[in-house]
Amino acid sequence: MPQTDYATLTPSSPPRLRVEGLGVAFRVGGREIPAVEDVGFTLATGETLALVGESGCGKSVTALALMRLLPPSARLLGGIAELSGVDLLGLPEKEMRRRRGQELAMVFQEPMTSFDPVYRLGEQLLEAIYAHEDVSYPVAYNRVEESLAAVGLPDPAGIIRRYPHELSGGMKQRAMIAMALLENPGLILCDEPTTALDVTIQAQIMELLARLRDERGLSLLFITHNLGLVAGFAHRVAVMYAGSIVEVATVEDLYSQPSHPYTIGLFASVPRLEGGKGRLVPIPGVVPPLGDFPPGCKFANRCRRVAQLCREKRPELADLGNTHAVACHFPGGDDDRTG
Ligand SMILES: Nc1ncnc2c1ncn2[C@@H]1O[C@H](COP(=O)(O)OP(=O)(O)OP(=O)(O)O)[C@@H](O)[C@H]1O
Ligand SMILES: [Mg+2]
Repeated sequence: MPQTDYATLTPSSPPRLRVEGLGVAFRVGGREIPAVEDVGFTLATGETLALVGESGCGKSVTALALMRLLPPSARLLGGIAELSGVDLLGLPEKEMRRRRGQELAMVFQEPMTSFDPVYRLGEQLLEAIYAHEDVSYPVAYNRVEESLAAVGLPDPAGIIRRYPHELSGGMKQRAMIAMALLENPGLILCDEPTTALDVTIQAQIMELLARLRDERGLSLLFITHNLGLVAGFAHRVAVMYAGSIVEVATVEDLYSQPSHPYTIGLFASVPRLEGGKGRLVPIPGVVPPLGDFPPGCKFANRCRRVAQLCREKRPELADLGNTHAVACHFPGGDDDRTG
C-alpha cells in the first residue's frame, strides 16, 4: 500500500485542520447530554489521522460537527475547527454550504444512504457539481467521468447511466468517493468507509484512499472501530473513549508504547496473527452512560490502575513528547501499577 513519508510532512507549518475544545450535546427528554467533550487534534496536508474507539464513543458526531451536519437535536457546546485558518464552526450557513464539497467532504459507511435510489448516479454527481458551480453540461459531464475513472471504476459512461442499486457495495463506495472528490476538496472525512464491505473489497478501498491521498495531498480523517485497519494506512491515531480523546500518537508509537490503560486494553482485545498467544482479553466493565460521566477520569470504573486522584480529577491530554499525548494521571505501559 502506498505510504506518505511522514518525515516529508511539515508539522511546523500551520496544519490544514485544527480542532480545539470541540463539544457537542444532545437534547434527550428535556436533558442535555454531552456526547463529545473537549475534542482537539490537528491534521497536516497529506496526513491521515485515524479516529478509533468503540461504538458510541463520539467518532461520527465529531465528524458531523466538522461538516456542520449534526441533527437538529444536537447543540454545539463550543470549540473551533479551523480549516486552512478559517473557523468552520463560526461560518454563516451559506458560506459553509460552499465549503462543503469544495474544501471538505465526507464519505459514509453506507453509500446507499448517501445516494438517492430513484436517480441515476450520473444525475446525482452532476447535481453535486451544479450545487457549487455554474458550468455547462459537457464540462460537468467530463468532470464526473474523470472522477469515476480516478476511483478505478471501469466504464464511467456506463456507470453514469446506472441506478445506485445496480452497483455492488464496493462499486458504490468507489462512486461515493468519486462524488466526494468532484470539487477537489483538500480534506476528506471517512466515517467507517469500508465497514459494510467484505475483507477483499475493504482492502481495495483502503488502497484507493491511500493512492488518492498520496497523489493529491489529501488530508484524511479516517474513522474506524477496527484498530487492525490503521497500521500501514494512517500516520497518527487518536483513540476516543466516552466522548473524549484519551491518547494520540503516531501509529508506530501507539503500537509500540500504548500509554493509556484504555488503549492498552484495546490492543489486548484485538486478535493478532503474530505473537502466537492469541488470547483475547476484553476490557472489563462498561462505558459510563452519556450524561452520567464521573467527575474524574471517565475510564476510572474500568481501569486496573485506578487511584483516588483518578476519581476526583479529570486528566487532560498531556504531551509525553514526540507528539505522543495521553489523558491519564498514571500513563505508561506498566499495566500492573495500582497507583
Ligand atoms: N441523534 C442523536 N440523539 C441522541 N444521542 C445521539 C444522537 N446521535 C448520537 N448520539 C449519541 O452520541 C454518542 C456518540 O455517537 P456517535 O454516533 O458519534 O458514536 P460512534 O463513535 O460514531 O459510534 P459507532 O462506532 O457505532 O458509529 C452516542 O452515545 C449516541 O448515543
Ligand atoms: Mg459512527
